[in-house]
Amino acid sequence: MGRLDNKIAVITGANSGIGLASAKRFAQEGARVFMTGRRQRELDAAVAEVGNGARGVRGDIANLGDLDRLYDVVRNEAGRIDVLFANAGGGRFASLSEITEEDYDSTFATNVKGTLFTVQKALPLLVDGASVILTGSTAASTGSPAFSVYGASKAAIRSFARGWILDLAPRRIRVNVLVPGPTSTPGLHGLSLSPTAEAKQAFVTAMEAQVPLGRMGTPDETAAAALFLASDESSFVNGSELFADGGQAQI
Ligand SMILES: NC(=O)c1ccc[n+]([C@@H]2O[C@H](COP(=O)([O-])OP(=O)(O)OC[C@H]3O[C@@H](n4cnc5c(N)ncnc54)[C@H](OP(=O)(O)O)[C@@H]3O)[C@@H](O)[C@H]2O)c1
Repeated sequence: MGRLDNKIAVITGANSGIGLASAKRFAQEGARVFMTGRRQRELDAAVAEVGNGARGVRGDIANLGDLDRLYDVVRNEAGRIDVLFANAGGGRFASLSEITEEDYDSTFATNVKGTLFTVQKALPLLVDGASVILTGSTAASTGSPAFSVYGASKAAIRSFARGWILDLAPRRIRVNVLVPGPTSTPGLHGLSLSPTAEAKQAFVTAMEAQVPLGRMGTPDETAAAALFLASDESSFVNGSELFADGGQAQI
């Protein structure tokens, strides 16, 4: 028996990294998974990798029309959502003097506006008692050089969860924030813009040095935490931040 048998799950940002690892894990545990991302080719490959009846729907979470199309597909093919993992997000390094309007607009459009409307537009499909998981970041609670716009956008995620557990209380919908620390994903490695292998390794080494466990996390380790929040095993966990960060933000 799987921990998500007969559940319908929607995961945004599921064609890479943490979202893809979670899609695999959820599907292995019995869920029927709807996966999104903007890049069609990566999405097709991810859906094939997940198997188990997974369905890909291409879309940008910052585009409300794309979200409507996503949920039209879910409504027509599954009729409800038991687990919503609003995971899509990203950022780029820029120190205060370098931040451009475009940096701000694109980061907040995806991480804040996109997450908000991903959840709002799912409301008619979410069952009472559903589990909503938002992906935060340790950057929301600790300072990171040249990463303040991203950190601020993820702090908004934390605030969303605090408010939404009250807005959704009549429907017993749980909302929790999954907080990855440095996790070895294409997104994290893409942050290092340096072309040389040495500089990329130095970037990784610097990240690892901040983690009491002395290494980065794997997407599978974060997916295991997502599975806990998705499943009924977390039935009394609501409004929490679950850190999967090797202790990085706790010191
Ligand atoms: N890796 C870490 O160390 C770390 C730490 C803390 C928090 N996080 C958070 O974890 C989440 C997953 O990141 P990751 O590390 O797994 O990175 P990743 O490998 O780059 O995956 C990001 C995913 O989000 C999708 N995405 C990005 N913007 C989108 C948009 N506007 N609309 C729809 N999909 C979008 C990407 O697909 P497309 O590009 O095809 O759209 C991709 O599937 C993010 O919210 C990130 O901020 C990661």
